[in-house]
Amino acid sequence: MAITLKTAEEIEKMRVAGRLAADVLKMIEPHVVPGVTTNELDRICHDYIVNEQQAIPAPLNYRGFPKSICTSVNHQVCHGIPSDKVLKSGDVINIDITVIKDGYHGDTSRMFAVGKIKPHAQRLNQVAYDCMKIGIEMIKPGVRLGDIGAAIQQYAEKNHCSIVREYCGHGIGKNFHEDPQVLHYGKPGTGVELKPGMIFTIEPMVNLGKRQVRLLPDDWTVVTRDRSLSAQWEHTNLVTEDGFEVLTEHPDWPL
Ligand code: MF3
Ligand code: CO
Ligand code: CO
Repeated sequence: MAITLKTAEEIEKMRVAGRLAADVLKMIEPHVVPGVTTNELDRICHDYIVNEQQAIPAPLNYRGFPKSICTSVNHQVCHGIPSDKVLKSGDVINIDITVIKDGYHGDTSRMFAVGKIKPHAQRLNQVAYDCMKIGIEMIKPGVRLGDIGAAIQQYAEKNHCSIVREYCGHGIGKNFHEDPQVLHYGKPGTGVELKPGMIFTIEPMVNLGKRQVRLLPDDWTVVTRDRSLSAQWEHTNLVTEDGFEVLTEHPDWPL
């Protein structure tokens, strides 16, 4: 699949989809408290996306995924399936929202602290956030994806964390996952050269322990092999003429 450069009309639709996805994260924040189940978070998001936003939750039935959002708790890396699991104080959770509006996708995720969390969990969330931010702030025409991957990897490893290799960011538009693949590790000077009009996610998964992961028998949930904590943040980003625009930024949560 070739990398598509989005037209001005498509970019406007991607702005709308991106903002809706960000709005879902903002809406769900006060619900992420001890005692709630991830199924309840899923239902609230589903109903908000369908009824308030008149949009489509992209994960639902995507390649057989059974729910409308991904909820990845503690040592779960990504693609956690909402369930009747009850969140407790000290948990950390990534909620990953993808909406389709007018045929275009907006994809964003962030970490939430449930009640009071330990300093090491807070530190990991911050390192993962900084990895994403470092990558996004490098985006401009002429930069190569290997430059971005290398910078993210270097920052994580300098902070004694590891980068998951099996999952990556991706082009996005009419399709949930398009080319290019956006690795969160790599070598400077390699990979696709960025051009204005490209839209892709940056979504590093960062582990407190080793980078190796395992797929649970549900065929979706990815966990760390050593059961160390994992954190992830994600934005959908546009390459502009002279830099970048974060399409899933929420005004209350500036990059
Ligand atoms: N939102 C995830 C991503 O960032 C993909 C989830 S696929 C699903 O690419 F099927 F699990 F929803
Ligand atoms: Co994504
Ligand atoms: Co996502």
